[in-house]
Amino acid sequence: MTEGVTLPGYTLSSSEAEQERLRRQADDLRPHSTDLFGRLGVQPGWEVLDLGCGPRGNLDLLAGLTASGGRVTGVDVNPDHVRLAEGFAAARGLGNVTVRCADARATGLPPGSFDLVYARLLLMNIPWPGDVVAEMARLARPGGWVAGEEADAICICDPPHEAWDRLTALLRQAWQLAGADLAMGRRVAALYRAAGLTDVGTHVYADLHPAGHWRRMIVPDLVRSLRPRILAAGLLTERELDDLDRAARAHIEAPGTVMLPMLYFTTWGRKPG
Ligand SMILES: C[S@@+](CC[C@H](N)C(=O)[O-])C[C@H]1O[C@@H](n2cnc3c(N)ncnc32)[C@H](O)[C@@H]1O
Repeated sequence: MTEGVTLPGYTLSSSEAEQERLRRQADDLRPHSTDLFGRLGVQPGWEVLDLGCGPRGNLDLLAGLTASGGRVTGVDVNPDHVRLAEGFAAARGLGNVTVRCADARATGLPPGSFDLVYARLLLMNIPWPGDVVAEMARLARPGGWVAGEEADAICICDPPHEAWDRLTALLRQAWQLAGADLAMGRRVAALYRAAGLTDVGTHVYADLHPAGHWRRMIVPDLVRSLRPRILAAGLLTERELDDLDRAARAHIEAPGTVMLPMLYFTTWGRKPG
């Protein structure tokens, strides 16, 4: 397992385990993204940007919806993720997909060039979401859409458990240290309005994962991904983290535990024509 690169201004790590988590997550969130793209009427011929696309993002879904005649551009600041996304597009034969390495705040792409500028789980992971939304609005064509999906950590775990409480507190603390916002989902609509977008709308999904579903473990998985940051800040030792991880996972795994780790907000807004 490699540790991957560490990006300033990004909460999570980019280890192989984290890349695999993002790939599995992309598959799980696909139905929500499909609903969003249906709502916006994404269709053949559209030019679409998937900003912060990661190793996979929604490149395949968008490539299918926009073919033929349309094009999908993926952008990520992490060169490892760009390489993985390019490999993914090549393996799937997605001829209308290109991937570029750039910072979401200043992509260098031409203004007004996309029918849809889309970002999933990017704003909640960075300290300057307003700057990224401004860039998204700049890149949308007049009358085009800006849209995204962001989590909001309203965590429900029942029955309560001390290890779970400590783990969620640690998640919040580590996220704060990174200067990012774990409650981003509820704030995206305000960011869109501040960027001058109109017709802003929001939908919220609450997925209650059944026993055995891997996404019941999203909080311990995120804390694992944040481990280098937690250790560097001296919040816990490696041993304490291992013990907490084990205790929390045992409780979450129990079939009788009700687990709702996050809400997912989908948000959209239109650039005035
Ligand atoms: C949580 S992942 C989500 C990936 C993908 N959107 C998805 O939903 O599967 C966030 C991604 O944003 C990328 N990222 C972080 N900071 C960025 C920045 N400043 N510019 C562009 N991408 C960035 C990370 O490298 C990572 O791939």
